[in-house]
Amino acid sequence: MTTDKFRQTRDDGSLQHLITLEGLDRSLLERLLKRAQQFIRPLGAPAMRSNSLAGVTVANLFGEPSTRTRGSFELAARRLGADIVNLEVHLSSRSKGETVLDTVYTLEAMQIDVLVMREAEPGVPGLVAQHVAPHVSVLSAGEAHLSHPTQGLLDALTIRQHKGGFGSLSVAIVGDVAHSRVARSAAQALRILEVGELRIVAPREFMPPPGEFAGVQRFDSIDAGIRGADVVMMLRIQKERLAEGSALDDGDYFRQFGLSSERLKLARPDAIVMHPGPMNRGVEIESSVADGPQSVIRQQVTNGVAIRMAVLEAVTEGVRRLRQRA
Ligand code: CP
Repeated sequence: MTTDKFRQTRDDGSLQHLITLEGLDRSLLERLLKRAQQFIRPLGAPAMRSNSLAGVTVANLFGEPSTRTRGSFELAARRLGADIVNLEVHLSSRSKGETVLDTVYTLEAMQIDVLVMREAEPGVPGLVAQHVAPHVSVLSAGEAHLSHPTQGLLDALTIRQHKGGFGSLSVAIVGDVAHSRVARSAAQALRILEVGELRIVAPREFMPPPGEFAGVQRFDSIDAGIRGADVVMMLRIQKERLAEGSALDDGDYFRQFGLSSERLKLARPDAIVMHPGPMNRGVEIESSVADGPQSVIRQQVTNGVAIRMAVLEAVTEGVRRLRQRA
């Protein structure tokens, strides 16, 4: 599906939609990271709550499986006091032939203010953003292989928590880059935040086309690609996006491209290991690394709730201000 260009910011510069990080300002990303950090509480402490989304209704419309993104968008909205409706596309009337826009207009008629969408078909969140009412925000919770903006933000937040900044860092994104929306959004976030060096590390069949990921260094060997890196971000093989009949042996892949504790020694001794989840242990990452002292994988999940709280607050700020005046 193709769409015309849509605007993500309102005339006053505030964020209305978040479909992609491409084209956003560094100052906006910095504001979101700073606000998200204020929502973080130590594990075991009561979660941060506020009523800043009281009177706001958030609809979660998921057309692909999700644990982290769906759970954290729902928790984020609840912790800010919003009303929530959750719909799975295969259990919604879209499975009876209703168009995506008719589903959206139906939700709008129920007075929703924010639509969170996970979509397998490229272009759908942008199309929806062009057709919603002016007060409604559309947030991508993952669009095909193209974009996962809140994941890019939570990855940036996690890196900053551990490394303090971005300018002097070497970040290696490793694995099935070609099919990964996580890799694209992480690369966009890191480019906007002016990371020192960005590497993509992939076997030839998972290397994205040359026109994409401008300015990155490309490696087809994991040993060369993670050598001296400050951050090693591992990716799952997106089997659901591989051509039918594509033969891939998990054991062969692990031997060629998996992150073992032995390989991790090639990165800097204080390197952090990231993975967006869901992980395939023993395929792209060894359990001893996933659960080891350099892993920040569970912290990424914690940060996901905080980032989604910050984004929900940001996109509803204008609407909430207008309602307070009315
Ligand atoms: N990282 C991520 O998007 O995970 P889920 O598919 O579980 O939401």
